[in-house]
Order: sequence, then structure tokens, then C-alpha cells
Amino acid sequence: PAPGWSIDADVVVVGSGVAGLTAALRCEAAGLTTVVVTKARLDDGSTRWAQGGIAAALGEGDTPEQHLDDTLVAGAGLCDEEAVRLLVTEGPDAVRRLIATGAHFDESTDGALELTREGGHHRRRIAHAGGDATGAEISRALVEAVRARGVRTVENALVLDLLTDADGRTAGVTLHVMGEGQHDGVGAVHAPAVVLATGGMGQVFSATTNPAVSTGDGVALALRAGAEVSDLEFVQFHPTVLFLGPEAEGQQPLVSEAVRGEGAHLVDADGVRFMQGRHELAELAPRDIVAKGIMRRMRELDAEHMYLDARHFGAEMWENRFPTILAACRAHGIDPVTETVPVAPAAHYASGGVRTDSHGRTTVPGLYACGEVACTGVHGANRLASNSLLEGLVYAERIAADIARGGNTLHARVPQPLPATERPAYPLLPPEARLTIQRIMTRGAGVLRSETSLSEAADRLHRLHSDARDALDENGKTAEPGVDTWEATNLLCVARVLVAAAQRREETRGCHWREDRPERDDTAWRRHIVVRLNPDRS
Ligand code: SIN
Repeated sequence: PAPGWSIDADVVVVGSGVAGLTAALRCEAAGLTTVVVTKARLDDGSTRWAQGGIAAALGEGDTPEQHLDDTLVAGAGLCDEEAVRLLVTEGPDAVRRLIATGAHFDESTDGALELTREGGHHRRRIAHAGGDATGAEISRALVEAVRARGVRTVENALVLDLLTDADGRTAGVTLHVMGEGQHDGVGAVHAPAVVLATGGMGQVFSATTNPAVSTGDGVALALRAGAEVSDLEFVQFHPTVLFLGPEAEGQQPLVSEAVRGEGAHLVDADGVRFMQGRHELAELAPRDIVAKGIMRRMRELDAEHMYLDARHFGAEMWENRFPTILAACRAHGIDPVTETVPVAPAAHYASGGVRTDSHGRTTVPGLYACGEVACTGVHGANRLASNSLLEGLVYAERIAADIARGGNTLHARVPQPLPATERPAYPLLPPEARLTIQRIMTRGAGVLRSETSLSEAADRLHRLHSDARDALDENGKTAEPGVDTWEATNLLCVARVLVAAAQRREETRGCHWREDRPERDDTAWRRHIVVRLNPDRS
């Protein structure tokens, strides 16, 4: 279809998880005309899959300072302390506002919030909903609020590229919309402020807890627009993902840290609790340490997975506290009430992303980022469990406040030409490249990496890119534009930058684990790897 439609707004929010919808609600409340565009349906992103909960110093005796300490320890020397301070001090009120927006969290009989523990937290500070369905409840409440407020939304809208004016300031985004009738095909939302809230990039690996839509679209867009991206090497592998076989691909069922928080043990095939003695918090050590502990034990025993043992919870606790996980296990023929649950690490969260300041501003004027797509500095080399929903909330609110004060977007809206073509200047990959990229990345840049594995991955990714580039040069044509091709192209873009950063970081820190550089090197590497592509050459 020919490009042809356009919408004008003050703000366009790209993505509809906790960060995107919170930003949209707060912008709209500030009187800004806001449009939310989202790649699939409003609740199809990662937020809905979040289990454990949202961390904030809400419990008796807990303080933001203690939350700060745990976050900094997990972040392994690379957190931006001021960014964390904002997160933990503004967090409790942001959660209260989320509750006021309509999200129902689990409460004890006296009406206080029920709080649980997860890895790296020295206190019970994780609020949860529906037992282990926290994200689904947050998503429900925010989608309802957005609809009730009449915020304009466009679903099935894949973001393509940033529009900028002659001064390099943000002027909107181009989109490919499928099946929305009046907005079908390639078009644009013109707005002087664009909020990227597109989520993560877990689909860059074969097995991930992320849904199929998590293909790094926001980071790829930002790279193509010349924005700075930071810390991409820090991919967090969740330690306990239901093991469905060595060849399992795509989204895998998560077994929340909260299961360990409530007392489950990690054991090997002989029932040995191998995390004891490896860290003072044993199974509740920060996530990177537990993932490494599991991988090491798997190597020692030449095993494909370890086990989570929570049989002592009993049927009632499983049913009441972890109904989602119980159902997922049973759907795969495992009954955690009577059996140990096979688990192994899988890709879970991008600690890095599009670099922002404390107002969520990226390095391109008018372009903001929040949620998993962003790198605000709060996660450092390893995100603390359940800080991600909180970060989405707090930084989305900060962005809305900044836009409302005219922060980064004080300029007249410049009329933009409609996108000239639906065929971008960069080469599109065929849809089948997605599987190839995932396999290359899992093999070469997965939980355990080395210079050899990374350079092999870099070479193979480079070949994929140059083959597509050659095809573009020869006949000006690569794959047919569509969601599959654009997603594969975005995956390749972020995979190449991720591998380059992982090659460059010649040490082991947080969730970046180099077999050939097993030590943390604070002299050379207590710093960030920041990447900015030349917009013409991405
Ligand atoms: C979980 O429930 O284990 C996930 C929590 C998180 O990723 O923060």
C-alpha cells in the first residue's frame, strides 16, 4: 500500500507496557495530545508476563536507602547512583499512584500490602498481584485507564524510523500499520516529542522469557537515528526458566524468583543445594550469581538443567500464591506439588539500552526513552529483581513532567513530508534470518562468552548484513517490507552492537560473563560502553 496517512499530536508514545501507558496517561493528564502506537495489541508486550512483582520500600522498617544499597550491589559497580536514588525515593509514591489508577495488589488480612523477597533483596519489598500475575494486573489496570481517559491508540503499528527536522530535532515517527482500516500501510505520527517504550530484545536469543514482540525495535530505531546506546553487553539471564529441552526456542515459561523468595531450594539431580556456600544469600543471591551457580553445577555434572524444589509448599500454597506458574508447569506435565521442577537460565532482560538522563531524555532532542528500552543508569551491570516495573513507572512519570514543562521539546511543530517510501535505505532481512540470528547469538553471546565465541558470532552476523547489503546494491531490492522482515532487520542491528560491546568488555562483571576474562577489572572497566552509529551507515 502507498504511504499516505498521518496523525498530528504533541506526544507519540511507542509501546504499551507499564512505561508507555504510564507516560501516556501522565502526558494526557498534563493536557498534551498524546497518541500511543503499539506493535501488536495494547497488552501484548512484556509487562503482562511479569510475575514476581514491583520492588519499592513500602514495608515497615524498610527505607529507600536500603533499596538503594541492594540495587548498587546487584549492579556490580556500574549503576548511576543518582539515577538509583531517584528510583528508590520516588518509587513508593509511584506505586501508590499506580494503585490509585486501579491496580489491585495482594494484601494481607489487615489490609497491608503483602511483600515478598527475590534475589539480591535483603528485605521483603516486592508487591505482587494475583499471586504471581503482577504484570497482567498492572497491564489490565493501565489499559483500562488509558481507554477510560480516551487516549488515542493505534494497535498493530510497527514503528520504523524517527522523523527529524532540519536541526536534527525529533518530529515524529514513521509506522507500518496492518489491518487498522483507516491507517493501513506506511504513515506517520508527527509530534515534537517521541517516547520510546518499546521494551526489550530477548528475541535476539533462542530461548527467552520475552514474548515474540520483544525484538529490539526501539534500540534499533534509536541507533539508526544516531542516538547513544549504552551497556548492551549486559543481558540478564533469568536463572530459573522452565527447562523444556535443549532445542527449545522462543518464549519459555518463567518460574519467578519469588518462588525462591518464599523458600524453594535449587538442587541438582542428587538433591544437593549447590548455592549454599557459594553466596551468603544462597538461592537468593543476585540473579547473575545464581545463574552462574546453576551453569557451573551443570558443567560439573554434565547436566542440561538443575531443579527447583518447592514440594514443601504443599498444594494450597502453590494454588494460592503461584497459580500461573503451577498451571504452566502442569501444562508441560510437571507437578511442582509432588515433583522437582527442571530449570535452566534463559535470556530475560536487557540491562542496557538507549542512553538517557534523569528526565528520560536521549541524546537526540525530543526523543525520550523509558522502561526496558532505556538505559537510565539504574541497573548497571545487572538489574536487581523487580526493579524493572518500578523503573518503567518512575521514569515514565519523569518524562511526562519534562515534556509538560517544555523540557526538551520547546520548538514549533514543523510540518513533515509523508514518508517517501516504504522501502528503507537500509537492507531488509528475510524473515528466516530471525532463527539464524537467534542461534548465532545463543551459541556465541549467551550466558557464557569468550573472545572466540564472540568473534565467530560477529563474523556470522556481519555476513548476514553484507549479503543483504549486496542484494540492495545489486538490484535495489531485498526482502518484501513487513513485520517479519523489519523485526529480523532490527534483531540483526541490535545483535551486532551487543556482540561488539561484549567483545570490547574484556572482563567479567554482573551478567556479562567472559570465560577467557573471568575476573572483574575495576581499573580498566569501571566504565560504560556507549555506542552511536553514523545514521547514514546503520
Ligand atoms: C521474576 O518474577 O522472577 C522476575 C522478576 C524480574 O525479572 O524482575
